[in-house]
Amino acid sequence: MEFDTLLYEVDDDGLATITIHRPDKLNALNAAVLSDLDRAVRQARGDAAVRGIILTGAGDRSFVAGADIQQFPELDALDGHRFALRGQAVFNRIEELSKPVVAAVNGFALGGGCELAMACHLRVASENAVFGQPEVNLGIIPGYGGTQRLPRLVGLGLATELILTGDRISAERAYEIGLVNRVVPADELMPTAKDLLHTIAAKGPLAISFALEALRASDQPLREGLRHEAALFGQTCATEDAAEGATAFLERREPDFKGR
Ligand code: COA
Repeated sequence: MEFDTLLYEVDDDGLATITIHRPDKLNALNAAVLSDLDRAVRQARGDAAVRGIILTGAGDRSFVAGADIQQFPELDALDGHRFALRGQAVFNRIEELSKPVVAAVNGFALGGGCELAMACHLRVASENAVFGQPEVNLGIIPGYGGTQRLPRLVGLGLATELILTGDRISAERAYEIGLVNRVVPADELMPTAKDLLHTIAAKGPLAISFALEALRASDQPLREGLRHEAALFGQTCATEDAAEGATAFLERREPDFKGR
């Protein structure tokens, strides 16, 4: 499948890399990028050879510098509502993938860029990465999930500060507050993201997809989340991979998971 605004490649280990490619606009998200991103995500979801996905931005300055601000002056209330729902739908599809998605944040992750990184399951940042939700500087608020995912990741107090001030924070600060999982020198960014996915890919793919689903239920009230977890745990117990995992442990060998 061809894409105008991103690069899509799958390596021999089954890792798909999606590189948003609008470097002259610091990879800002317009309708074309969102549409390509949606298609690329669906392609990775439907390709049995793909075990994990890395999402990054072209160039060495920016992951995604936000939604494309050029679109904003024309939006009325209805358009703005639709605009937010469209971005949220694409980002939800990423979050709901049953394969792990790592954001490799290679520079600015502002506004929609920060929101996109937060919709990924894990975040690795280069030392030069910069995070922030600067929407209030434009007289608007985050619309692609920032007011919901940021407090879930870093707590309501810090999220309120970041969203109300529009302040940018460094990769190091993002790590301190739990917004990113790792910070590495720029030249180690992609290898680190790949290592992380290789570690995950060595586990049973069914266990990983059930774990992702159970983790998503952590935004429910505790009792409901626990019910969800128990039901999913039951399903994992009935898989061949679960039998293989326990047998391999008892036989003191590495498990050979088949994804069944
Ligand atoms: N939407 C549209 N275009 C954007 C953009 C965005 N979110 N972010 C950057 N660009 C464009 C700039 O307009 C510029 O285009 P031009 O060369 O055709 O004029 C190009 O990308 C380079 O950006 P520039 O501002 O010149 O780079 P800089 O190094 O001086 O600043 C940023 C980098 C990221 C700090 C600055 O571009 C910025 O603040 N961007 C907006 C961030 C934002 O508010 N995002 C949330 C949107 S809701």
